[in-house]
Amino acid sequence: MNKPKFYITTPIYYPSGNMHIGHTYTTVAADTMTRYKKLRGYETYFLTGTDEHGQKIERKAAEKGVTPQQYVDKIVAETKELWKLMDIEYDDFIRTTDERHIKAVQKIFRRFYEQGDIYKSAYEGYYCTPCESFWTQTQLKEKDGQKVCPDCGRPVELTKEESYFFRMSKYQDWLIDYIETHPDFIQPPSRANEMLNNFLRPGLQDLCVSRTAFKWGVPVDFDPGHVVYVWIDALSNYISALGYTSDDDSLYRKFWPADIHLVGKEIVRFHTIYWPIMLHALGLPLPKQVFGHGWLLFGGDKMSKSKGNVEYPEPIVRRYGTDALRYYLMREMPFGSDGNYTNEAMLQRMNSDLCNDLGNLVSRTVAMVEKYFGAAVPAPGEYDENDKHIIEMFEALPELVDAQMNSLQFSLALGEIWKFIGELNRYIDITQPWVLGKSEEGRERLKTVMYVLCEGVRAVAVHISPVMTRTPQRIYGQLGVTDDSLKTWESVQRFGQLVPGTVVKKGEALFPRVDIKKELEAMEAEKAAQKAASQPEAPKEDTITIDDFAKVKLIAVKVEACEKVEGSDKLLKFTLNTGSGTRTVLSGIAKWYRPEDTVGKTLILVSNLAPRKMKGIMSEGMLLSAEDDKGNLKLLTVDGDTAPGSRVG
Ligand code: ME8
Ligand code: MG
Repeated sequence: MNKPKFYITTPIYYPSGNMHIGHTYTTVAADTMTRYKKLRGYETYFLTGTDEHGQKIERKAAEKGVTPQQYVDKIVAETKELWKLMDIEYDDFIRTTDERHIKAVQKIFRRFYEQGDIYKSAYEGYYCTPCESFWTQTQLKEKDGQKVCPDCGRPVELTKEESYFFRMSKYQDWLIDYIETHPDFIQPPSRANEMLNNFLRPGLQDLCVSRTAFKWGVPVDFDPGHVVYVWIDALSNYISALGYTSDDDSLYRKFWPADIHLVGKEIVRFHTIYWPIMLHALGLPLPKQVFGHGWLLFGGDKMSKSKGNVEYPEPIVRRYGTDALRYYLMREMPFGSDGNYTNEAMLQRMNSDLCNDLGNLVSRTVAMVEKYFGAAVPAPGEYDENDKHIIEMFEALPELVDAQMNSLQFSLALGEIWKFIGELNRYIDITQPWVLGKSEEGRERLKTVMYVLCEGVRAVAVHISPVMTRTPQRIYGQLGVTDDSLKTWESVQRFGQLVPGTVVKKGEALFPRVDIKKELEAMEAEKAAQKAASQPEAPKEDTITIDDFAKVKLIAVKVEACEKVEGSDKLLKFTLNTGSGTRTVLSGIAKWYRPEDTVGKTLILVSNLAPRKMKGIMSEGMLLSAEDDKGNLKLLTVDGDTAPGSRVG
């Protein structure tokens, strides 16, 4: 039988740092979609990988004092580990440093040149290294008197070099027409308008497609010194991975054009302008859809490797499991919109949706079958109105889920499934099995109720299986479902597939209920400990400039009064004459000085230290002291008399 095909890709990520929750988001979405299509009987192909060339990576490696190849190898290995942890089942992981990819890019580039799409000239303009993109003067924005990238707001660099150019302008009208006549090509539709209005209709510039300023790229084989512009290199991955231009291009013939390129909204431009033009110039069909999803924000800003404002998935998965994070990512925000990532929201979802709604449904159902029917699923009797309501929902669910999944609305698809879970829980409240269990006739009725619940739970396990990779197996385990044909999409079309007599077995709770406040504190502490451990040791003789030193304002002060701080055996409270008034300063030197012995001394105060409250008293500065190896401490003082307030330095 010839199965329908489904080819989906993620962007190939820059290994300029470790992948964070943002990359995990796209990759989990692609994995979920692949699993869904598999469930639906498709032959799927799921490609991800890494975009390893370019100026950004070359610089990162130089900063670390390693070769670019060494630099990317390490991060790629860690990325693959992460995808394993997240249960990402990709079919191929393409690296732009793979020989197969480099060869394909060289052939593609040469073909563009030979057919006149590329010409040699000189480039003069601006470059944003974090985005690896070219900008003209008029496209730039200004921030704090500096020219910045209109996409990411970071400073651009003026570059001047000999380059090859691609005649993008030649294809502009064709592309406008294509986008206008293929409304599904760019999703969501608002992004199509943005491309048309902001880039295509104002007129496309020819694109600089080679660089000579650095070496880390695919060499242009007919012009040494030039490397292929990293976006031309990167976009080609979607076909080079399938063997396009190689001896064996069977995958290419089978799976191209891609069904969906899943990308973040900031790179929709590359995927819906440069990439279609490249493909069209090669005489190839375009991908059926480019879906630009929204950003995960962190404190209102895009989570980003280069900004460093990121959360990493590993600690979250270690504490709460892969499914809790996969569920949260797919559930929290509508696909296409931006949303804030917070550990707090993720834990709330875990407690309410996973532990309360789903976990309790499964544990109550299984426990009652054990309690009332010796763990064997009973055969149902006649169905009443309440049962029929559940049965109708059961049979309506596949279509509702399918509609949402086909438009990548993971959150809404899960919403439909959770509505069903909610109804199953309500069904328990309405039918009151614990009351039925008390009487003989109630028990007859209870058989039907328990059957309906078990069959409902089975359907839930099937429906969540694209998103959650481990929980369905645990549910099947508890329900006693071993037959694989009861785990399929087909098996949840009609109610009543579960065989009476199936033996259930109560297991561990699917998800723990957590104390959110405590968990957040524990996560923060873990993060802080990790940060401290990864701080490079400060060089022994670190020097500072005179300007650095000048930031510390030191003055001579005279002790007017001093007393012990109540409730502390370390702190002394000083009242100091600063020349222009008095100040209160606390110092942890009670072990070395009796308060009365300090009065009248002239000491040295850091006077511009941010005030800090200790034992309820505000301390406005820090007194300097010297402590030797043996722990003897002496206050610093001046050699003779000086007026309070005198500047030290
Ligand atoms: O752009 N929210 O790589 P990249 C949501 N190499 N998604 C996010 C995200 C966030 N805060 N941060 C990252 C590149 N992503 C190029 C791509 S493709 C031919 C070349 C996801 O490492 C999202 O999919 O900057 C985004 O588009 C991608 O990671 C960018 O990864
Ligand atoms: Mg990026």
